[in-house]
Order: sequence, then C-alpha cells, then structure tokens
Amino acid sequence: MVAEATKVIDAASARFGFEVDYEHHQIGGEHYLSTGEVLGDATLKSLQRCDAIMFGAVGHPDVAPGVLERGIILRLRRELDQYINLRPVKLYPGVAGPLIDKGPDDIDFVVVRENTEGLYAGSGGFAHKGTDREVAIEESVNTRFAVERTVRFAFDLARSRRHHVTFCGKTNVLVHSHDLWQRVFDQVAIEYPDVETAYANVDAVCVWMVQAPERFDVVVTDNMFGDIISDLGAAIQGGLGIAAGANLNPEGVSMFEPIGGTAPDVVGTGKINPLAAIAAAGMLLSHSGEHEAGAAVEAGVAAVAGSLPSLAAGRMGITTSQVGDLVAAEVAG
Ligand code: IPM
Ligand code: MG
Repeated sequence: MVAEATKVIDAASARFGFEVDYEHHQIGGEHYLSTGEVLGDATLKSLQRCDAIMFGAVGHPDVAPGVLERGIILRLRRELDQYINLRPVKLYPGVAGPLIDKGPDDIDFVVVRENTEGLYAGSGGFAHKGTDREVAIEESVNTRFAVERTVRFAFDLARSRRHHVTFCGKTNVLVHSHDLWQRVFDQVAIEYPDVETAYANVDAVCVWMVQAPERFDVVVTDNMFGDIISDLGAAIQGGLGIAAGANLNPEGVSMFEPIGGTAPDVVGTGKINPLAAIAAAGMLLSHSGEHEAGAAVEAGVAAVAGSLPSLAAGRMGITTSQVGDLVAAEVAG
C-alpha cells in the first residue's frame, strides 16, 4: 500500500513541480520478530525530524495483540503529540456503499477524534490479579487542555465546510468526562457564532450515521468513541479499502494512514486495495501545503474508486499495483 501511495506522490510531484525526499523505516511485525525492536530510538528520532509521515499498517499473526498497536501507533501519536485524528467519511460517486438510499450528497462528513488521551491514556490497574476477587480499572483521562484544542480544531474545520459541528458524547452516563467536554464545547461555540452546533449521544450517532448521515458535517468526539464511529464511517463510505485518516499535530509532525490494519492472509498476493493509503497520501500533500496536488490525488482516488467493481480486497478486478497505476495516471493528467 505504501509503495502505491509513494507512486502517486511521485506522479503528483512530477505534475505540480515539488520535490519529495523519502526516508524509509521498517517498522511492524516482521521487524519486531527479527530484531526484537518495536520502535527504535533512532527511528523515532528520524520521524521527529521529518515533515510528514506516511504510515502503512501494523499487526502480525505471530505477535501478541497490542504489542505493535500500542508500541508503535499509540506511541507515535503520543510522542509526536498528534492530538487530532481526522477521518473524512465520504462516499465517492459510483461507489456502491451499503446504504442503498444514500448517495454522495448524503455521506460527506468528518470525524475529529481526540487522539492522545481518554480511555487510551493507559491509566488504571489491577488489584488481586488472577484471583476470583480481581479488579480491573481503566480510567478515562480528559484534560481541559486537550479537549479544548480538539474542539477548537473542529470548529475551525467547520468554517471551511458547512459550518456545523456535532459533539458526539454520552453526557447522560459519563457525568465527569463528558460534563467537561460539554462545558468546553459550549464555551468554544460562543466564539463561533457562524457555526451551528448539535449534541448527540454516541449510540444515536451510530443510528443516524446509517439512517441519516446527511445530518453530519463535523463530528467531534473523544478517543474511544472516535475509534468506533470512524470504523462505522468507513463502512458507509465503502469499507476499509478506501478509508483514510490523519494523525495531526498542526504545530509539529503529522502522520497519515489507511485506517485499517494488516491482512496477513493475503500478504504478497496483490489483493489489497491501496486506495485508503493513496487517499491518506493526498491528505499528506494537502497538509504539507501542496493543496492542488492533494486535490488531484483525491480526485484520482474518487475516479478510480467509482470505476472498480468492488473496493473489497480481492474483488477489485485488478491488482494492488494496477490500482496504484490508475490513480497515478489520473494524477499525471
Ligand atoms: C485506529 C486503530 C487503533 C486505535 C488501534 C490499532 C490501536 O483502531 O487507528 O483506529 O484504536 O486507535
Ligand atoms: Mg480503529
């Protein structure tokens, strides 16, 4: 997937006249199994020095669940303070999504997910572990600082879209964390009188994403809810084959990724859909100031997505690298 993403970045660089210096880092299951290293200090240092990161996916059948996810993805998000997880949910024309009565005009919103804390903070512990009186506690950490910068980002983004922000929470049950979220949301909203606001409980958001996705423009939410609703978002836009996301540090180094994981069962077969990674590369270009190039990549992804019989792995009718070639050709113009 990453090879196809860089193929398309190269096509954009040739067409729009900017240069890209690549640095490749092997991280993931194979690297961990052969070296014992999850994320080396040297790798982290180089990543801290680059302008943007194009990330593939990690996960390996021979590595215990969580080792790579926490040791690589979550660690990078935290070390690089990528405090926004931005996940556009957009149905491209010609793509057969699962919602039969909804089209591209209905499915076009963005999830802004807090990306550094909440239930992902790693706060908690066990008592009496392994006994029948065992207790497991997983605490949700919510700082005003992190909530506020996330909410502000959502409102700023809404100004470049349809001027509407929904806070997706669970204020009826999470009486501490989402009380803070709601108060911060309401305070920030005052500064954006031109942006309309709405509140929805996360369970209702799940229903509306399926029955009335046109309700949403920007949806701001915490880390855990954002994780869940953005996969639902991926499903309604045609699946993980096309769903891209950005881990943003607007003041630092951001990381762009297909939001799905690895598919060890089809590795090396050319069955994987690279459009998600390519779409992430488009976000990378736009974020890096190459707006025209970013828009061209998105248009290329849209055109190719709409022309494939299916976006699912193995059912695209062509191979991973052929999909990359098609998008590169669109971008080359
Ligand atoms: C995602 C993924 C990660 C997350 C996992 C792999 C830790 O599901 O990027 O959404 O939960 O954030
Ligand atoms: Mg997820």
